[in-house]
Amino acid sequence: MARIVAGVTSSHVPAIGAAIDNHRTSEPYWQRVFEGFERSKEWIAKVKPDVCIVVYNDHASAFSVEMIPTFALGTAAEFPIADEGWGPRPVPVVKGHPQLAAHIAQSVILDEFDLTLCNKMEVDHGLTVPLNLMFGTPKEWPCPVIPLAVNVVMFPPPTGNRCFNLGRAIKKAVESYPEDLKVVVFGTGGMSHQISGQRAGLINSKFDHAFLDNLTRNPQKLVRMDHLEYMREAGAEGVEMVMWLIMRGALEDKVDEVYRFYTVPASNTAVGHIILENRSKGGRKAAARKPAAKSRKSAPKLKRAAARQKIQRIRS
Ligand code: DHB
Ligand code: FE
Repeated sequence: MARIVAGVTSSHVPAIGAAIDNHRTSEPYWQRVFEGFERSKEWIAKVKPDVCIVVYNDHASAFSVEMIPTFALGTAAEFPIADEGWGPRPVPVVKGHPQLAAHIAQSVILDEFDLTLCNKMEVDHGLTVPLNLMFGTPKEWPCPVIPLAVNVVMFPPPTGNRCFNLGRAIKKAVESYPEDLKVVVFGTGGMSHQISGQRAGLINSKFDHAFLDNLTRNPQKLVRMDHLEYMREAGAEGVEMVMWLIMRGALEDKVDEVYRFYTVPASNTAVGHIILENRSKGGRKAAARKPAAKSRKSAPKLKRAAARQKIQRIRS
């Protein structure tokens, strides 16, 4: 049986992609951002997901104002990299998982979520930047990716509640897939930011930290938040955070927060990153714990290693 072991949230700021592509990651401004993902890269290398489901938004690359699906699932075998004006980013083509995607489509649509299915779709920085942050810049992405594009660009985006419930339906779909696959779900975008208008440059760190706390411990508080509150508190583009609730809905009620990173700004945006592991489905058991057990480290040694890593575990 397939199982979701963990959820990750990550920024998708396009300038992060440009910093990677133009070899500027060691500049102090960018180093601060990339450093925050070093432990995450170690974590995901240990977890070794078989598939990642990446919830993101398209930026008029695959879609345009002529056609705006609310939820679009990538069911193709391959997703080419979109040309966003400077040529396609020099990152590997994104390989899909058509079998699992088709299974999710069937299960979720029969559960009354009307997804748009994309058998051909280019993916932009909204998807590739989070992959870079978690996997670095490999020659090939280490696992297949199922893209789920959400409209947060043109009013009305889906509600947080709808997103959370879609996450629930995805969880059910994955858990009914017969093959034994380890799945990680990404929620991307956010945190507070506003790119244009009178409040351009707005960042609300107090709101962001409370959002991260609630994401781990009390997502039911977030699902009730309406779009106006997102926009008032987190800026016009802060509404991207409804996508994180799809990720959270796909996890169990109780999760372990194993890592958190927050920094401001990256471009116009507050970068918030969190890793949540399911307790019962073996996120930690299947990943971090196994190699540790194999290496037969003593308990005090393990304790010291954990302290060194300064991994923050917050019980929900
Ligand atoms: C920026 C952030 C975004 O989330 C986005 O989609 C585009 C630009 C920015 O900070 O510049
Ligand atoms: Fe964005």
